[in-house]
Amino acid sequence: MTQAFAPRPLAIAPSILASDFSKLGEEVRAVDAAGADWIHLDVMDGHFVPNISYGPDIIKAMRPHTKKVFDAHLMISPCDPYLEAFAKAGCDHITVHAEAGPHLHRSLQAIRALGKKAGVSLNPATPISALEYVLDLVDLVLVMSVNPGFGGQAFIPSAINKIRDIRAMTAGRPIDIEVDGGVGPDVAGPLAAAGANAFVAGTSVFRGGTQEAYKANIAAIRNAAATARGEAI
Ligand code: DX5
Ligand code: ZN
Repeated sequence: MTQAFAPRPLAIAPSILASDFSKLGEEVRAVDAAGADWIHLDVMDGHFVPNISYGPDIIKAMRPHTKKVFDAHLMISPCDPYLEAFAKAGCDHITVHAEAGPHLHRSLQAIRALGKKAGVSLNPATPISALEYVLDLVDLVLVMSVNPGFGGQAFIPSAINKIRDIRAMTAGRPIDIEVDGGVGPDVAGPLAAAGANAFVAGTSVFRGGTQEAYKANIAAIRNAAATARGEAI
């Protein structure tokens, strides 16, 4: 098997949106110690999505609390004026929505020029053809399995077939396929079997409110996904 066709590593990415914002540094340290691979950062502007979360200054304040990958999900429009600020705040992956602006190539080129991995996210109703002409500029595809804006929503099952189609479209390319929204151990297996290798989870990771609970919650998602990938646990 060549490197290009090797499966992308499994990654569990707790979404800080579901954490206790009054102690963000502590929550980041807790999910790091509990086994998170990436820290998922949901940025919302009250315009592209009907909710407001946090921006680059808050991310910068979280940065010293972990060495794990900062996986930023920008639900903002426009995004281009803010990309440099997110890069400087310490984000490693910067994902923009295909629906958020008319010049997706420009946004992805700008992210890569900042030395960061470039991601494209698709809302549940957006067809995968939105990816077709930008694949050379993409390091990560973030498949929304809820309509973005809020944590705690129900998983939309059509995401599974969509991921299968994206896996076929991206075969042979070093592109991570990440899924976001309503993800827990119950759906991680089918999602992994379809081709997702990165799993965002807010509610299902932070349930319980302690580092011990986070560890068990992350392990449950990882075990379900690893089993479906045929990997030893
Ligand atoms: C939704 C966000 C998600 C959200 C996931 O707009 O992009 O990352 O925090 O939360 P859960 O896992 O609770 O659905
Ligand atoms: Zn997200």
